[in-house]
Amino acid sequence: VKVVTRVSEVRGWRGALSGTVGLVPTMGYLHAGHVSLVERARRENDRIAATLFVNPTQFGPREDLARYPRDLDRDRRLLEAAGCDLLFAPPVEEIYPAGFDTFVETGAVAAPLEGARRPGHFRGVATVVLKLLNIVRPDRAYFGQKDAQQLAVIRKMVADLDVPVEVVACPTVRDADGLALSSRNSYLGPEDRAAAPVLYRALTAAADRWRAGERSADGLRRVMREVLGAEPRAQTDYVSVADPATLQELDTVSGPALLSLAVRVGPARLIDNVLLDG
Ligand code: PAF
Repeated sequence: VKVVTRVSEVRGWRGALSGTVGLVPTMGYLHAGHVSLVERARRENDRIAATLFVNPTQFGPREDLARYPRDLDRDRRLLEAAGCDLLFAPPVEEIYPAGFDTFVETGAVAAPLEGARRPGHFRGVATVVLKLLNIVRPDRAYFGQKDAQQLAVIRKMVADLDVPVEVVACPTVRDADGLALSSRNSYLGPEDRAAAPVLYRALTAAADRWRAGERSADGLRRVMREVLGAEPRAQTDYVSVADPATLQELDTVSGPALLSLAVRVGPARLIDNVLLDG
């Protein structure tokens, strides 16, 4: 994998190519979920670019920007093994040079849930993703379903701003006990790690109840709250049953629905979701 740090180097690489390009944007500290995105991109495109950039504009002032885990050498090796061709790992000033002053204003889909708890988060995500799409100019860009609202925000931005890229959603990768892989799982000590699968247990309990015929969104929210409430190390931030495209809360589940939750377990704030495909 060729590692570059400058926008001009990415443009040079892209300009010399004739086939299709797949892009996997990441903040690094890669896990098997990221690798699955690169492998999917590898199957569907002639060349693969990944980006590694811990984007400061998507972190709030009291969030974990400074301690966000980083390991460029390990990331480079994983990308190499997964068949990635280019890794763009810019310094902050390459993406946000002095005087940078233009942001994407996200709309209603970015307002609830993560958007409500993390003001400015999706503005930062949308801005950096649009910049990365403009820099790499991929045919397809790959994102994990784990960040379901992020995916919805990016899809809406791409549609509304006529960005010429196909957004590809890839399934969440989980550990054997159900915990969704996340770079932030590295914050969990052994006891919190043992408690963390409660997120997936709550989601699967609600999905099972839906399969058994429950169509009241409040009924499904109650199931998630009950399962989470039984784990003393888990502090529930929110549980949600929402439309997967608009993220608006539902009263009744009569079509596709996104079950999602955010839970603090020790030092980590974890999110997860399951799609009911109605
Ligand atoms: O999902 C992430 O890792 C980030 O939010 C992304 C899409 C790379 C933008 O910084």
